[in-house]
Amino acid sequence: MKALILSGGTGTRLRPITHTSAKQLVPIANKPILFYGIEAVVAAGITEIGIITGETGPEVRAAVGDGSRFGASVTYIPQEAPLGLAHAVLIARDFLGEDRFVMYLGDNLIRDGITEFVDEFRRLQPDAEILLARVPEPQRFGVAELEDGRVVRLVEKPPVPRSDLALVGVYLFSPAVFHAIERIEPSARGELEITDAIQRMIDDGARVVPHVITGWWKDTGRLEDMLEANRIILDTLAPRVEGLLGEDVRLEGKVVIQTGAQLRNCLVRGPAIIGSGTLIEQSYVGPFTSIYHDCTIRRSEIEHSIVLEGSVIDGVDGKIESSLIGKGCTVRSSPERPRAYRLMLGDQSRVELR
Ligand code: G1P
Repeated sequence: MKALILSGGTGTRLRPITHTSAKQLVPIANKPILFYGIEAVVAAGITEIGIITGETGPEVRAAVGDGSRFGASVTYIPQEAPLGLAHAVLIARDFLGEDRFVMYLGDNLIRDGITEFVDEFRRLQPDAEILLARVPEPQRFGVAELEDGRVVRLVEKPPVPRSDLALVGVYLFSPAVFHAIERIEPSARGELEITDAIQRMIDDGARVVPHVITGWWKDTGRLEDMLEANRIILDTLAPRVEGLLGEDVRLEGKVVIQTGAQLRNCLVRGPAIIGSGTLIEQSYVGPFTSIYHDCTIRRSEIEHSIVLEGSVIDGVDGKIESSLIGKGCTVRSSPERPRAYRLMLGDQSRVELR
């Protein structure tokens, strides 16, 4: 089997972060989301991976490389525009050949991996297998209707969903999917939807096996999803200290201090992770916080947040929480008069003041 991992798209709901970066490279517990997907695929015994890239292709390539660090071999397949998930499958046809494959949306996180589903697909040999999860807001997803355990209808983001079963962003296909994709039309959002292609397979009488998953799954398209994913994954880490602990440092609960991090005079209450080369001084880092590499946190308090590489938080009065701070940002108090908020925010930034 092969794997097709999608790492294109525009990530509009995560602006401004995605103005400059791929949403799939936002770190969750200090590891890019995309890497969890690659690792899950490799753990399921699949090492030939095609990665679909969009505008952020160069960044994705730089991060993933040739795949050897994951024990895989990666082929990059550029998609000239976000024309849909089914379009991505079409342009990967040469790469996929006549093999059965798993398609994995690079912004999806499945805590328990995909080995179980890949094994089931290998055993049952259906034309397709889809994963479904019960969700509170099915209208945000592709929605499936089952009858007697069989899939009868799939609708992409229905305004009035007929079930609470959302399509998880992991699909298993035989080459029969190509024939279905060739016969669908772009949706209202102008995309060739994989949901429509699977519906076409069902209409053609193909065997599409549903698997309702019960483990934790997240499509990390929005800030609150990122923070939730960060919470769940941080909680699974084993505590370890590889960095330098200076004077008066207290670590409570599950805390990971990565190589080259330096802490002085601070309290880190886990689950939390502090990245390599990051300095934490006279500060409090609270539960569910991931501080990536080469950051500085000084005289500040932060919890339930994700801070990307190279950012500085200094002397902030009041706790920062539920925040996603991009690369190389500065949040600091200023001695200048007048005492005021001075902001330089990227397009579509969001600031909530106390
Ligand atoms: C896509 C699919 C949708 C699926 C979701 C899972 O949505 O179209 O059916 O439920 O991924 O993450 P999109 O992220 O393109 O809005």
